[in-house]
Amino acid sequence: MKTLIIGANGKIGKILSKKLKKSHHTPVAMVRKESQKADFNNAGIETILADLEEDFEHAFEGVNTVVFTAGSGGHTGPDKTHLVDRIGAKKAIDLAVKKNIQQFIMVSALGADASPDKWPDSMKHYYEAKADADKHLMQSGLNYTIIKPGRLTDDQGTNQVLLDVEIPRANLQIPRTDVATVIEKSLGQEHLYQQSLELLSGDTPIDDAIARLN
Ligand SMILES: NC(=O)c1ccc[n+]([C@@H]2O[C@H](COP(=O)([O-])OP(=O)(O)OC[C@H]3O[C@@H](n4cnc5c(N)ncnc54)[C@H](OP(=O)(O)O)[C@@H]3O)[C@@H](O)[C@H]2O)c1
Repeated sequence: MKTLIIGANGKIGKILSKKLKKSHHTPVAMVRKESQKADFNNAGIETILADLEEDFEHAFEGVNTVVFTAGSGGHTGPDKTHLVDRIGAKKAIDLAVKKNIQQFIMVSALGADASPDKWPDSMKHYYEAKADADKHLMQSGLNYTIIKPGRLTDDQGTNQVLLDVEIPRANLQIPRTDVATVIEKSLGQEHLYQQSLELLSGDTPIDDAIARLN
């Protein structure tokens, strides 16, 4: 099973690429610069050079599943959020439909499906883009799994989460490594198809949290 990781050179993407490499999945890291390839290739991970702002259909060749964990990041303006988080994500979803991808896992954001008046003004463009991409995915006919994590940290993973359609807002963050583990363990889980799940750190081991959704 080949899994295309869109945003592989990002913080979640790098952790996920390595986790998948150690598992029975075969990651294909989509990166946008030649110089980003070496780290992956040295770890035995296949790479494909492609950019969400250009034609990236070639990245889907021979791929079975897709994880979208790209993002324009906080250092860019609303124009890039629009082009990457919204248009790039929607193009990836359309390509996944065209290529008969078996599962599309989207890294969205906690609060993206809230009422727009709940979004802080400074983040409105970001949540709007995420919400629009999620909606497009839900209407695509694909087997989708939308993961909506809270604020991401670089803390060590605890492997303990709160994962459900709706979860209490007790602790608003989660280490990226735990998000990557949830993605890894969600791949191929048919009971997670057509699910949109909120994710925060919690006190349930990830395997149990995923099994409970069955
Ligand atoms: N930060 C938070 O607290 C938070 C909370 C909830 C959800 N999220 C979501 O979590 C996801 C991953 O977060 P992260 O911290 O791992 O992000 P990250 O480290 O900023 O990684 C984002 C990746 O997207 C890539 N990218 C940007 N523009 C691209 C383009 N045009 N074509 C191809 N790739 C492109 C970047 O490539 P380069 O490496 O080349 O720059 C980078 O590798 C994002 O979707 C984000 O919106 C974040």
